[in-house]
Amino acid sequence: MLAVCLLTFITALTTAAPTSTPNPTPEPPNGIRQCARSECPVYTELADYGLDMWKRRIEPGVWARKVAPTCNRTTAIGLVYMDIHYYFRDNGINRTTPIMMEVSENKAAPSFCPDQSESFPCCDEIYALLFYIPAVSQATAPPPSKDSGVELVHMEDPREFYGITLGGRPVNENVTANYNQLSKYLDEQGIRFDDDAFLVASYDAPWRPQPHRNEILIPIKKPCRRHDGNDGIANPKDGQENETDQGLDGVRGREAGHGGRRQRRNVDYLPNIDLIPF
Ligand SMILES: *[C@@H]1O[C@H](CO)[C@@H](O)[C@H](O)[C@H]1NC(C)=O
Ligand SMILES: *[C@@H]1O[C@H](CO)[C@@H](O)[C@H](O)[C@H]1NC(C)=O
Ligand SMILES: *[C@@H]1O[C@H](CO)[C@@H](O)[C@H](O)[C@H]1NC(C)=O
Ligand SMILES: *[C@@H]1O[C@H](CO)[C@@H](O)[C@H](O)[C@H]1NC(C)=O
Repeated sequence: MLAVCLLTFITALTTAAPTSTPNPTPEPPNGIRQCARSECPVYTELADYGLDMWKRRIEPGVWARKVAPTCNRTTAIGLVYMDIHYYFRDNGINRTTPIMMEVSENKAAPSFCPDQSESFPCCDEIYALLFYIPAVSQATAPPPSKDSGVELVHMEDPREFYGITLGGRPVNENVTANYNQLSKYLDEQGIRFDDDAFLVASYDAPWRPQPHRNEILIPIKKPCRRHDGNDGIANPKDGQENETDQGLDGVRGREAGHGGRRQRRNVDYLPNIDLIPF
């Protein structure tokens, strides 16, 4: 028995050691190294603007999403991360990369929120976390329990984004600087973009080898459509007027509330998503 164990151990060691014919690293489907290690959403590159800025289409797919029930950016991700993680684990669904944090203006709040309120769901901004469901599991992923607060978001149409890639840790100051660089570039080019929502995508856990990859994605401005406008993500709450978590999929709050557009968000609101152990 011991011999068998030892042999197994040695075999394992041998397998792990570099050999003269190492397994070739799989080719990433989209040129992003992290997407060879872990499945990514399907991307189509539409433009390269230089200086790590680009335009991309994210092809249809299914995402698990949970809104953080807080207005506090610092605590937002920590509140919901494990709920989505457990959904994957408990259903035998493999994790993917990146995880995305969605920051969006809370357009739905005004109908029942006081003017000045710092408690959820009356926050100025809504924070949500998104994990991509791997392609093989998209058709079979079971509905998350109500208690978990996790929802499956079926993105049925492709979505286009302007983006910028950054390394290091996706901490506030770097994210803010990069958001500003991208939005300034788009402004200078006369490119319109959606300035009330953005995503921060993070591809590497802190313990992964450098270089790390993060991205800031700004949605492409959509023509203003009314309630029936389907802009891609079919939210299970579609049809309800009082939802508080429209996130990236809503244009319908624009006419209601606040009496027009607000000023550009101050992106210093970002949480530190570097703490996430994936
Ligand atoms: C947000 O949460 C952090 C961590 O719990 C806390 O230190 C901070 O004071 C909170 N901020 C606000 C505005 O409540
Ligand atoms: C999860 O990933 C492992 C390793 O790549 C693979 O062998 C397995 O089939 C995957 N499981 C599912 C449910 O996709
Ligand atoms: C911010 O970005 C710069 C340039 O990519 C990098 O050198 C630095 O380490 C980053 N800061 C943090 C805290 O990650
Ligand atoms: C929306 O809010 C109104 C008034 O607060 C309430 O009567 C109605 O039931 C709510 N609708 C939904 C779908 O929650």
